[in-house]
Amino acid sequence: MHRSTLMLTSFIGAVAAFQCSSFNTTVTVSAPSYQPAFPSFADHYKSVAFLNALTARNASTTASPFKGAVNVAETFRISGEYCTPTPSQRPAYLDVQVLTHGLGFDKSYWNFGGDSSRYNYVRAATGAGYATLSYDRLSNGGSSVVDP
Ligand SMILES: *[C@@H]1O[C@H](CO)[C@@H](O)[C@H](O)[C@H]1NC(C)=O
Ligand SMILES: *[C@@H]1O[C@H](CO)[C@@H](O)[C@H](O)[C@H]1NC(C)=O
Repeated sequence: MHRSTLMLTSFIGAVAAFQCSSFNTTVTVSAPSYQPAFPSFADHYKSVAFLNALTARNASTTASPFKGAVNVAETFRISGEYCTPTPSQRPAYLDVQVLTHGLGFDKSYWNFGGDSSRYNYVRAATGAGYATLSYDRLSNGGSSVVDP
Protein backbone atom coordinates (compact mmCIF):
# COMPACT_ATOMS: atom_id res chain seq x y z
CA MET A 1 0.00 0.00 0.00
CA HIS A 2 2.79 2.38 0.92
CA ARG A 3 4.56 1.46 -2.31
CA SER A 4 1.52 2.20 -4.52
CA THR A 5 1.10 5.62 -2.85
CA LEU A 6 4.70 6.41 -3.68
CA MET A 7 4.20 5.33 -7.28
CA LEU A 8 1.09 7.49 -7.64
CA THR A 9 2.91 10.50 -6.20
CA SER A 10 5.84 10.14 -8.56
CA PHE A 11 3.46 9.67 -11.49
CA ILE A 12 1.67 12.92 -10.70
CA GLY A 13 5.01 14.64 -10.20
CA ALA A 14 6.11 13.45 -13.62
CA VAL A 15 3.15 14.97 -15.49
CA ALA A 16 4.62 17.88 -17.36
CA ALA A 17 2.66 21.12 -17.67
CA PHE A 18 4.42 21.84 -20.92
CA GLN A 19 4.74 20.29 -24.33
CA CYS A 20 7.65 20.31 -26.74
CA SER A 21 8.31 19.54 -30.36
CA SER A 22 11.73 18.79 -31.78
CA PHE A 23 12.68 19.84 -35.27
CA ASN A 24 15.58 20.22 -37.68
CA THR A 25 16.00 23.23 -39.90
CA THR A 26 18.70 24.31 -42.33
CA VAL A 27 20.66 27.54 -42.26
CA THR A 28 22.61 28.67 -45.31
CA VAL A 29 25.61 30.83 -44.49
CA SER A 30 27.89 32.88 -46.71
CA ALA A 31 30.81 34.58 -44.94
CA PRO A 32 34.49 35.47 -45.43
CA SER A 33 37.02 33.07 -43.93
CA TYR A 34 40.72 33.92 -43.54
CA GLN A 35 43.25 31.37 -44.69
CA PRO A 36 46.43 30.91 -42.59
CA ALA A 37 49.57 32.30 -44.25
CA PHE A 38 51.96 30.09 -42.25
CA PRO A 39 52.90 26.42 -42.62
CA SER A 40 51.75 23.70 -40.19
CA PHE A 41 53.68 23.76 -36.91
CA ALA A 42 56.46 21.17 -36.65
CA ASP A 43 55.96 20.88 -32.86
CA HIS A 44 54.29 22.55 -29.88
CA TYR A 45 57.29 24.89 -29.32
CA LYS A 46 56.70 26.38 -32.77
CA SER A 47 53.02 26.94 -32.05
CA VAL A 48 53.80 28.61 -28.69
CA ALA A 49 56.47 30.81 -30.34
CA PHE A 50 53.93 31.78 -32.98
CA LEU A 51 51.33 32.64 -30.32
CA ASN A 52 53.91 34.68 -28.37
CA ALA A 53 54.87 36.67 -31.50
CA LEU A 54 51.21 37.22 -32.34
CA THR A 55 50.36 38.59 -28.88
CA ALA A 56 53.59 40.56 -28.20
CA ARG A 57 53.56 44.35 -27.75
CA ASN A 58 55.25 44.77 -31.11
CA ALA A 59 52.93 42.30 -32.86
CA SER A 60 51.68 45.01 -35.22
CA THR A 61 55.14 45.11 -36.82
CA THR A 62 55.02 41.42 -37.80
CA ALA A 63 53.55 40.18 -41.04
CA SER A 64 49.86 39.28 -41.03
CA PRO A 65 49.33 35.61 -40.16
CA PHE A 66 46.48 35.44 -42.68
CA LYS A 67 46.22 35.49 -46.43
CA GLY A 68 43.26 37.16 -48.08
CA ALA A 69 39.69 36.14 -47.40
CA VAL A 70 37.90 33.38 -49.23
CA ASN A 71 34.14 33.13 -49.19
CA VAL A 72 32.68 30.08 -47.48
CA ALA A 73 29.10 29.26 -48.44
CA GLU A 74 27.51 26.23 -46.82
CA THR A 75 24.21 24.90 -45.56
CA PHE A 76 24.06 23.46 -42.06
CA ARG A 77 21.46 21.46 -40.17
CA ILE A 78 20.40 23.05 -36.88
CA SER A 79 18.51 20.91 -34.37
CA GLY A 80 16.01 22.67 -32.14
CA GLU A 81 13.16 22.23 -29.67
CA TYR A 82 10.16 24.51 -29.15
CA CYS A 83 8.24 24.22 -25.87
CA THR A 84 5.07 25.89 -24.64
CA PRO A 85 2.88 25.64 -21.55
CA THR A 86 0.07 23.10 -22.13
CA PRO A 87 -3.04 24.73 -23.70
CA SER A 88 -4.92 24.90 -20.39
CA GLN A 89 -2.06 26.88 -18.81
CA ARG A 90 -1.14 29.01 -21.79
CA PRO A 91 -1.49 32.80 -21.48
CA ALA A 92 -3.06 34.78 -24.32
CA TYR A 93 0.35 35.98 -25.50
CA LEU A 94 3.54 33.98 -25.42
CA ASP A 95 6.94 35.62 -25.22
CA VAL A 96 9.60 33.25 -26.57
CA GLN A 97 12.88 32.79 -24.74
CA VAL A 98 15.70 31.77 -27.12
CA LEU A 99 18.02 29.45 -25.17
CA THR A 100 21.67 29.13 -26.22
CA HIS A 101 23.83 26.57 -24.44
CA GLY A 102 27.48 27.15 -23.47
CA LEU A 103 30.66 25.17 -24.12
CA GLY A 104 30.53 21.48 -23.35
CA PHE A 105 26.74 21.18 -23.55
CA ASP A 106 23.97 20.88 -26.09
CA LYS A 107 20.35 22.01 -25.85
CA SER A 108 19.60 19.29 -23.28
CA TYR A 109 21.30 21.68 -20.81
CA TRP A 110 17.95 23.47 -20.59
CA ASN A 111 16.10 20.24 -19.66
CA PHE A 112 18.47 19.26 -16.89
CA GLY A 113 17.15 16.41 -14.76
CA GLY A 114 14.17 15.56 -16.98
CA ASP A 115 10.62 16.90 -17.28
CA SER A 116 9.77 16.84 -13.58
CA SER A 117 13.11 18.12 -12.22
CA ARG A 118 13.17 21.35 -10.25
CA TYR A 119 16.41 22.16 -12.12
CA ASN A 120 14.73 21.93 -15.52
CA TYR A 121 14.81 25.46 -16.96
CA VAL A 122 12.24 24.75 -19.69
CA ARG A 123 9.84 23.50 -17.02
CA ALA A 124 10.34 26.69 -14.97
CA ALA A 125 10.06 29.04 -17.96
CA THR A 126 6.93 27.40 -19.39
CA GLY A 127 5.50 27.29 -15.85
CA ALA A 128 5.97 31.08 -15.76
CA GLY A 129 4.06 31.43 -19.04
CA TYR A 130 6.89 31.62 -21.57
CA ALA A 131 7.58 29.59 -24.67
CA THR A 132 11.17 28.42 -25.13
CA LEU A 133 13.23 27.79 -28.24
CA SER A 134 16.43 25.88 -27.53
CA TYR A 135 18.83 24.74 -30.22
CA ASP A 136 22.13 22.93 -30.66
CA ARG A 137 24.93 25.23 -31.69
CA LEU A 138 26.86 24.20 -34.80
CA SER A 139 28.86 20.96 -34.22
CA ASN A 140 26.88 20.11 -31.07
CA GLY A 141 24.05 17.66 -30.39
CA GLY A 142 21.90 17.05 -33.47
CA SER A 143 23.26 19.98 -35.52
CA SER A 144 25.76 19.50 -38.35
CA VAL A 145 29.31 18.67 -37.29
CA VAL A 146 31.65 20.82 -39.33
CA ASP A 147 35.36 21.27 -40.03
CA PRO A 148 36.46 24.13 -37.75
C1 LIG B 1 17.30 15.63 -37.12
O1 LIG B 1 18.32 15.10 -37.94
C2 LIG B 1 19.09 14.10 -37.30
C3 LIG B 1 20.23 13.69 -38.25
O2 LIG B 1 19.75 13.42 -39.54
C4 LIG B 1 18.20 12.91 -36.94
O3 LIG B 1 18.96 11.96 -36.25
C5 LIG B 1 17.07 13.41 -36.05
O4 LIG B 1 16.19 12.35 -35.79
C6 LIG B 1 16.32 14.54 -36.71
N1 LIG B 1 15.35 15.07 -35.76
C7 LIG B 1 14.10 15.36 -36.11
C8 LIG B 1 13.23 15.90 -35.03
O5 LIG B 1 13.67 15.19 -37.25
C1 LIG C 1 59.39 42.01 -31.05
O1 LIG C 1 60.05 42.06 -29.81
C2 LIG C 1 60.77 40.86 -29.49
C3 LIG C 1 61.32 40.99 -28.07
O2 LIG C 1 62.02 42.20 -27.91
C4 LIG C 1 61.88 40.62 -30.53
O3 LIG C 1 62.55 39.41 -30.23
C5 LIG C 1 61.21 40.52 -31.89
O4 LIG C 1 62.19 40.39 -32.89
C6 LIG C 1 60.37 41.76 -32.19
N1 LIG C 1 59.63 41.53 -33.43
C7 LIG C 1 59.58 42.45 -34.39
C8 LIG C 1 58.80 42.06 -35.60
O5 LIG C 1 60.14 43.52 -34.31
